[in-house]
Amino acid sequence: MKRLVVFASGSGSNFQSILDAISSGQVQAICVGLITDREGISAIDIAAAANIPAHVVRRKDYQDYENYALALTATLKSLDPDLIVLAGYISKVPSMVVDFWRGKIINIHPSLLPKFGGKGYYGINVHTAVLNTGETETGCTVHYVDEVYDNGSIIAQVIIPVNDTDTPDILQNRVLFEEHKLLPQVIEKIITQS
Ligand code: GRF
Repeated sequence: MKRLVVFASGSGSNFQSILDAISSGQVQAICVGLITDREGISAIDIAAAANIPAHVVRRKDYQDYENYALALTATLKSLDPDLIVLAGYISKVPSMVVDFWRGKIINIHPSLLPKFGGKGYYGINVHTAVLNTGETETGCTVHYVDEVYDNGSIIAQVIIPVNDTDTPDILQNRVLFEEHKLLPQVIEKIITQS
């Protein structure tokens, strides 16, 4: 069985969709850990409900960036993942981690990258920007992670039309609905190919 580690920073609905896909047999893997960059988030409750160990690894708990990167690397090494999935993870993944697991880290982003990606484009900001720019379509993207935010090669995208009546919240919900289908599909595809 392939070993997944999920990173999340918030509500964890994508994390839940991965766990559901594992439970249903759509994704043939086990989730061996959740890594977060903050405490008190719903993603940690989801992990607890599923008996998955959650590890909070925060930059502010370390004297410098190098020690933080080493701690994150050590945590990941102890989990020995075949695939690392960033599912709503806000912090930048240190280069040390990207380099060690190159080609084994994927991220889901709620836009049609390369549009509306990079620093500052997260959460509702993405959907507000899409509407403010007058886009007629948006979507979600799963891509490999490299050293630059939202920059690695694209694996899969789903296009979603933007409606005149959309607000950022409405658009976010519609995109999220597609994310919950796309991410498990991509995970299953990658792990069956590797
Ligand atoms: C999702 O829109 C994801 O694409 C983005 O952050 C959001 C996280 O949502 N990276 P959730 O925590 O999975 O509910």
